[in-house]
Amino acid sequence: MKLNICCIGAGYVGGPTMAMIAHKVPSAKVTVVDINAERIAAWKSDKLPVFEPGLQEIVEGCRDKNLFFSTDVDAGIQEAEVIFVSVNTPTKTYGMGAGKAADLRYVELCARRIAEVANGTKIVVEKSTLPVRTAASIQRILHQNPKGHQFQVLSNPEFLAEGTAIQDLENPDRVLIGGNEDEGGRAAVETLASLYAEWVPREKIITTNLWSSELSKLTANAFLAQRISSINSISALCEATGANVDEVAHAIGKDSRIGPKFLKSSVGFGGSCFQKDILNLVYLCQHFGLPEVAEYWEQVVRMNDLQKRRFSERIVKTLFNTVSGKRLAIFGYAFKKDTNDIRESAAIYICRDLLEEKAQLAIYDPQVEPAAIYESLGLTSEEERSRIEICPSPYDAAKKAHAIAILTEWDIFKTLDYEKILSSMARPAALFDGRNILSLTELRKIGFEAHGIGKA
Ligand code: UDX
Ligand code: ADP
Repeated sequence: MKLNICCIGAGYVGGPTMAMIAHKVPSAKVTVVDINAERIAAWKSDKLPVFEPGLQEIVEGCRDKNLFFSTDVDAGIQEAEVIFVSVNTPTKTYGMGAGKAADLRYVELCARRIAEVANGTKIVVEKSTLPVRTAASIQRILHQNPKGHQFQVLSNPEFLAEGTAIQDLENPDRVLIGGNEDEGGRAAVETLASLYAEWVPREKIITTNLWSSELSKLTANAFLAQRISSINSISALCEATGANVDEVAHAIGKDSRIGPKFLKSSVGFGGSCFQKDILNLVYLCQHFGLPEVAEYWEQVVRMNDLQKRRFSERIVKTLFNTVSGKRLAIFGYAFKKDTNDIRESAAIYICRDLLEEKAQLAIYDPQVEPAAIYESLGLTSEEERSRIEICPSPYDAAKKAHAIAILTEWDIFKTLDYEKILSSMARPAALFDGRNILSLTELRKIGFEAHGIGKA
């Protein structure tokens, strides 16, 4: 299918999604634009700004053939028939709705730019997660364009999960496209549906009105996060009663009405979506006069905050109520395995708590850049930075440490030589498995004081 596509925003969503479109539809020309020149340069290099298994190969296969990266946003807009908007929509930190509502200034800026420079009819696709009825604002801005061009706005939320983005894009459970319920809207929906139909079976392509599509994205993430908070709430009870949360999860997951996925108890969910989308949902409910509905969903985030706090408190309590001056090894900093993304990672909160308690942290993560770790902990000066050590291996991090906290479930942590690690540590040596990836029985056998989530 011959189509000129532009994507504004070369981030975790825009980059991999466009790479997959270019890979699957060789006749389409795909250009990813971003105002961040450093990011664009990285997409053109052999060290992509996003670590995602399988992504490098796909990008290298299409780059400069039908996949292009550029900082020339205006040219990208002008050349394209379909423009994906995939810019960041962080939680607002100021003014009305601070802490909950989405900050839509980047989306609005894009809409204004498209309206200003467009040279013909375009389909504008919302890819970023947006609050319901954002399409109406985008439409209003686009329709004010000076040359009287027509635009169709579609909602096409992304459901990929980081770390498995390539698999998710290649074989999605579904593709969702929302559009206006008129002739122009239906034609635009069909254009986008045909693009996906190049590799996704038609029956997996769901079309709805704009508002259902926007709300489905928020709802999907709220339901997924709710499952994690539900099992995490039970983990607290397990620790108190002697039940084992993994056994409980396994037992309830066998009920086909519940199902086994997203029941893994952990130190808390992170990532750029869950918390932000739920808070967005909460804000929407409040806005539409539904305070009880808002409270219901807000509790999912509160439970997640509690889970992180409980974990750092358990570390401090176990280490004789003080970690001041003690070296603590942190295994993993990313919000989940197979990504270099640390947005809302539980590790940030745990490390902040421990630094507050004056611990010395020795951090190892196989993919996260040291600069990102320093920034996330607000350590700017040399002196502040000396409170943490970023280590080249987990073995280095554990040397002389009083405890290890596993905060990301990276596969390599499952196969380390824990006897060797123990022999290099201070005694007594504790291990807090925040992801339940190791056997506590085995660890205790070799001499660790071992703790998991939801386990006595
Ligand atoms: C999520 C949604 O899954 C995806 O559909 C949406 O498009 C974006 O948000 P992502 O944030 O990339 O994707 O990762 P996900 O696999 O959902 O994990 C989110 C967090 O929940 C991670 O911190 C993960 O470790 C945690 N998690 C996940 C658990 O603690 N337990 C689980 O059972 C599953
Ligand atoms: P996501 O996880 O949603 O992909 P990211 O923060 O990784 O979010 O990526 C969003 C990208 O959008 C960033 O690289 C940012 O520079 C880019 N961006 C934001 N506003 C604009 C804009 N007006 N024009 C072009 N790119 C933009």
